[in-house]
Amino acid sequence: MSKVRLGIIGLGQQGGAYAQFIKEGRVSEMEIGAICDIDPKKRMGAEKEYPGTPFYDNYLEMLESGDIDAIVTCVPHYDHTNMGIEALKRDIHVLLEKPAGVYTKQVREINDFAVTKPELTYAIMFNQRTNQLYQKVKEVIDNGEIGGIRRTNWIITTWWRPQGYYDAGSWRATWDGEGGGVLVNQAPHQIDLMQWICGMPEKVYTKAQYGYQRNIPVEDDVTALFDYGNGATGVFITCTHDVIGTDRLEIHGDKGKIVVNDSKTINIKRLNTPENEMSDKMSMGDVMNLFQGDGPDSIYEEEVLEFESVWGGQHVAVLENFAANILHNTPLIAPGRDGIHGVALANAIHLSSWLNKEVSLPIDEDLFLEELNKRRSQER
Ligand SMILES: NC(=O)c1ccc[n+]([C@@H]2O[C@H](COP(=O)([O-])OP(=O)(O)OC[C@H]3O[C@@H](n4cnc5c(N)ncnc54)[C@H](O)[C@@H]3O)[C@@H](O)[C@H]2O)c1
Repeated sequence: MSKVRLGIIGLGQQGGAYAQFIKEGRVSEMEIGAICDIDPKKRMGAEKEYPGTPFYDNYLEMLESGDIDAIVTCVPHYDHTNMGIEALKRDIHVLLEKPAGVYTKQVREINDFAVTKPELTYAIMFNQRTNQLYQKVKEVIDNGEIGGIRRTNWIITTWWRPQGYYDAGSWRATWDGEGGGVLVNQAPHQIDLMQWICGMPEKVYTKAQYGYQRNIPVEDDVTALFDYGNGATGVFITCTHDVIGTDRLEIHGDKGKIVVNDSKTINIKRLNTPENEMSDKMSMGDVMNLFQGDGPDSIYEEEVLEFESVWGGQHVAVLENFAANILHNTPLIAPGRDGIHGVALANAIHLSSWLNKEVSLPIDEDLFLEELNKRRSQER
């Protein structure tokens, strides 16, 4: 095999973008093997845009066709895991769209099944993991350059969506179609990065608002408090109604601090002396001198790094990496099994809000499903 023949399931916004990237030759070791969509209008569009490409309205038929080596699941969230399992059963490689699923029980099912197929590639579209900015933040944390984490804080409210966005797709922002709101659609990237870089909290307490500024039954505004179990705490804020949004990640450690603004700039301040040592050594007189003398700037070295990121480049990088893993065994940037962590965290954030109390991770998965299904059936 010199090129991976990708079967795109769902020719909507995201599947359509991937089809274009491949058509434009931006994914060197991949071609479109086939397209599948249940919407007949998509068939007409595909015949015009991708002439000669086999089109299916049933993904199982596409899996059986022999036209494809791999799939990507650009469909509503509940379907990601089933489609992935069916593909793996037929020895077809799988790239899950984010989120891996709506609840951890279904994600565990595909993770367990994928273990029985080690020869197949199982990955997830966590495109932000290819962003050099977040790779750098992770490297600084992993190398202990700012010491143990004391506090994390991510305000990610640049996900503004007008009412028309929600009204345009019947599955969007519903419990039954999507499984939630901003936590399962827009913020999974940051939820994954938060745990990828800073680790999983042990406890979560949430204040979430449902249909606060949009006419939707799911959450459009979330504030979650994390307890990492070692004294460190975190705050995660996200919403879809701040038209002038904020994207600011701040990680405070024993030996310094990292601030990321607008996913473009990293500001790293490395303390010359760890804070605890400063506390042990310095008198209040020293502190007064510090603030009157060279100023607090003298206690750290500052590094400022700027990054450029063009929309689509990260998705192409994941597609390239997925193909390279299939063809050359190149290590995966985002292995499929990693998808469960973000789902577990999102589930904990939801459950805490539903129960109006702090929840411990791992959460009671049966209780989560019961509460989710209650909301799904009320909606129906
Ligand atoms: N990685 C990213 O940056 C990113 C960005 C946006 C969306 N997404 C994800 O992509 C997925 C799709 O989102 P979207 O915005 O493209 O949605 P969309 O509504 O624009 O497209 C979904 C498409 O799937 C089709 N579909 C639904 N059920 C199907 C089935 N059973 N078989 C075949 N086709 C089916 C629909 O007809 C539609 O064309 C979601 O999981 C979403 O979270 C990822």
